[in-house]
Amino acid sequence: MQNSYAESARRYMEAVAAIVASMPRRPAYYIETFGCQQNEADSERLAGMTEAMGFVRAASPDGASLVIYNTCAVREHAEKKALSLIGRAKHLKEANPEVLVGVCGCMTAQPHRMEEIKKHYPYVDFLFGTKSPERYPEILYNALTSKKRVFYPDEYDNVETPSEDLPVKRETTWKAWLPIMYGCNNFCTYCIVPYVRGRERSRRPEAILAEARELVETGCKDITLLGQNVNSYEYGFAKLLYELDKIPGDYVIRFMTSHPKDATHELIDVIASSEHVARHFHLPMQAGSNKILAAMNRRYTREHYLSLVEYMRKKIPDIALSSDIIVGFPGETEEDFAETLDAVEKAQFDFIYSFIYSPRKGTPAAELEDTTPHEVKTERFARLLEVQNAISIAKNSRFIGQRVRLLVEGPSKTNPEVYSGRSKHAKLVHFTGGYEALTGNFAWVEITGADVYTLTGKLAAD
Ligand code: 5AD
Ligand code: SF4
Repeated sequence: MQNSYAESARRYMEAVAAIVASMPRRPAYYIETFGCQQNEADSERLAGMTEAMGFVRAASPDGASLVIYNTCAVREHAEKKALSLIGRAKHLKEANPEVLVGVCGCMTAQPHRMEEIKKHYPYVDFLFGTKSPERYPEILYNALTSKKRVFYPDEYDNVETPSEDLPVKRETTWKAWLPIMYGCNNFCTYCIVPYVRGRERSRRPEAILAEARELVETGCKDITLLGQNVNSYEYGFAKLLYELDKIPGDYVIRFMTSHPKDATHELIDVIASSEHVARHFHLPMQAGSNKILAAMNRRYTREHYLSLVEYMRKKIPDIALSSDIIVGFPGETEEDFAETLDAVEKAQFDFIYSFIYSPRKGTPAAELEDTTPHEVKTERFARLLEVQNAISIAKNSRFIGQRVRLLVEGPSKTNPEVYSGRSKHAKLVHFTGGYEALTGNFAWVEITGADVYTLTGKLAAD
């Protein structure tokens, strides 16, 4: 779909740039991002536009002239975290009444949250949701010039695909998020995403291929394709991956996230015969009980899920598998939970992200009766972790003694002697013998140790 705001976005960007040019010095901006990679990718677009309008990036919110919080709503914890940070923006405003404070993202895409922030956080100057980022320059222009607070609620039935020529400011040159689609049509009963991000919109394959080619040509070594369910990419995900893999160069392609009902054998075959696609598949199972899967509206069975795992392991024997699991969905009995544990044992994931179910206002599951006490949920959560931790250690230990090729991410935050990097199996490796010039490059590391979350090793000769 053509983006109807693209043209006006350009005009508003010019108008803001003219205001900024008349300032005595270039104002600084700071963006705080919560939640998933999609949000990080959105923030990179906001940053790109902000810089195109003349702002410079600040290392912290203190002293910045523009502070934006890009929020997440997937669980209550994420919202609480964002609200508490937004609460602290009061001090920024006290220190500098001229600072502009904005809040956007999945939390403010919910009308009740927008109202709440409007009412209880008077120092927030502008609010918008996840709507086409093209509206952002207009919102910023109004906030800068009107001296009034500016609110842009989302209209979900009318979200458009972002235009292809918005500027993007990425964190590094060697690693990139590459959104291929936006929104979700699945309406899993626990999930707020379809309500806050709207219906699926896919980018054109030519645009994605052109962006990927340019990234590789300019030194990018790690491209992660993003979408809430990349498997329902409108123009065929397996084909897109096949085409992307043909781009010449030394780089890795990753993708997130996949829905098991749409993950095809064709896709697995493409990965198996690819040169650049990571040996890692993140396939959220959510639960191992068919009763709970049905209540979640996941539209697959545990048998289907486990058969996909079997096919993957047959085609790509060394593939690293990971999953998301929700514990304590309404109506989950001890028997249902035992089926989840059993499926986790059978699937042998390399790692999982596990969550205690968090009711989200406006979703069908939030209306279900939930009689399981919280202590029972936390106890199940602990049992799940115990089972998975043992599997993770065993899975990670298979690399001990092997030489593994990593993309080096830089020195560790806590110990500059130790460098970190990620392998094609998505393993985080801490290693000795690293040096600054390796950051953003591939290096061979000999693996000497393994624990639940990471591998350790030492730099090896090429
Ligand atoms: N409660 C707990 N976990 C949730 N997730 C999504 N919605 C909820 C919720 N309401 C989890 C799912 C999803 C991951 C990104 O977050 O496991 O795959
Ligand atoms: Fe949420 Fe389900 Fe869509 Fe994933 S597929 S974003 S869990 S509704």
